[in-house]
Amino acid sequence: MSSNRGSFSGKIGFVLAAAGSAVGLGNIWRFPYLAAKYGGGIFLLVYVALSVTFGFSLMVAEIAIGRKSQVSAIGAFGALNKRFSFLGIMASVVPIIILPYYSVIGGWVMKYLAGFTVGQASEMAQSDYFGNYIGSVGEPLLWFAMFMAITAVIVLFGVEKGIEKVSKVMMPVLVVLILGIAIYTICTMDGAWEGVAYYILPDFSNFSIMTVVAAMGQLFYSMSLAMGIMITFGSYMKKDISIAKSATQIEIFDTGIAFLAGLMIIPAVFAFSGGDESALGQGPGLMFVTLPKVFDSMPGGTIIGTAFFFMVFLAALTSAISLMETIVAMFIDKLNVNRKISCLIVLGICVLIGIPSSLGYSLWSEVTVLGMQLLDFFDFASNSLLMPIVALITCIFAGYVLKPKTLVEEIELSGKFNQKAMFSVVIRYVAPICILLILASSVLSAFGVISI
Ligand code: TRP
Repeated sequence: MSSNRGSFSGKIGFVLAAAGSAVGLGNIWRFPYLAAKYGGGIFLLVYVALSVTFGFSLMVAEIAIGRKSQVSAIGAFGALNKRFSFLGIMASVVPIIILPYYSVIGGWVMKYLAGFTVGQASEMAQSDYFGNYIGSVGEPLLWFAMFMAITAVIVLFGVEKGIEKVSKVMMPVLVVLILGIAIYTICTMDGAWEGVAYYILPDFSNFSIMTVVAAMGQLFYSMSLAMGIMITFGSYMKKDISIAKSATQIEIFDTGIAFLAGLMIIPAVFAFSGGDESALGQGPGLMFVTLPKVFDSMPGGTIIGTAFFFMVFLAALTSAISLMETIVAMFIDKLNVNRKISCLIVLGICVLIGIPSSLGYSLWSEVTVLGMQLLDFFDFASNSLLMPIVALITCIFAGYVLKPKTLVEEIELSGKFNQKAMFSVVIRYVAPICILLILASSVLSAFGVISI
């Protein structure tokens, strides 16, 4: 495995590739709807606080584990300590759950891209358009299949370089578009400033444990933590590139884009709902319902909307590619199959999990697990259950088995590590305790033991 380990083309190469995988639907689709639902400013505050302490430490730990072991996630823990081989396997299950439903949403994005391209902007801006669309059976499945197929074809031909190149162009364009749309909405629409206030100013009366649960799940998801991705990236990283600096850059970038996406969507929700706060709690549909209205109302909206959905499509695609690449590489290693067969197996799994996720909004809308629709359930199972468990054991592994000192040595191979003290304390004490509490509350509430 490690024999043909390539490495990124330089400092920026690593950060861009990691950012390309980190920035995706998580930032643009998932973050704004969670922020809207779980209290606005208070969610933002909790998220940023968790991100600079906890997210940073976990990301640094994962990259260092990868670079030290020089093998990808599934083998990295085992390579450093035999008894922890199981953790590599657990971490690798996460992308298998995420990729299928991620592709369902990737399909939604493609549908909107296609619609805007052929000039259906005002149709798509109708309030019930999105609900009717995901409530239909065939079309969402078709777009899901298309998104999957594009991802699979790219992965089949082997890609790392491609992701770097696409990210380099896509990221700046995406940022400019999001910023432009946000400024347009805030400056021209009545009620938008209220949305800005709701989003930026923390209101402590909106705080609940759910705010923390959701923020932490989102942190894992958005930064691609607790699933071995950063470990794999670390294994490709050259020894003279600073882990601490790279982690900081990826984090600022990832959180920055998520923040801007919220700024683009939440004020628009306020502007279009005329003060009806229930619009904030819509969940997964938020972006698809709100943004088309913004585009429909702005001059040149069709073109801007098309460009926007195209960039989101690219962001989703780069993320899906790296999700799929992880799983494919793992099957090649573990099942001793070639790339083609491995891709086929992954496609099979995606069909198995993706179809129910999509049908959960139409044919099977009656089917719920623990009171959640199927897509929400897969999202919950990975973000609120499996990832916290993997993160918890990773902290125990890094903090007590390897010891922070070993990782700090690895990190300092490429320069000073200023946050050394915080890193050790967070990994050993703060993170495990917080994760445990959060895990307990999300499990107990899912099973209806407590309500939070
Ligand atoms: N971080 C990605 C996003 O924000 C989603 C994601 C989660 C991901 N895990 C990943 C992407 C692993 C690539 C690889 O959309």
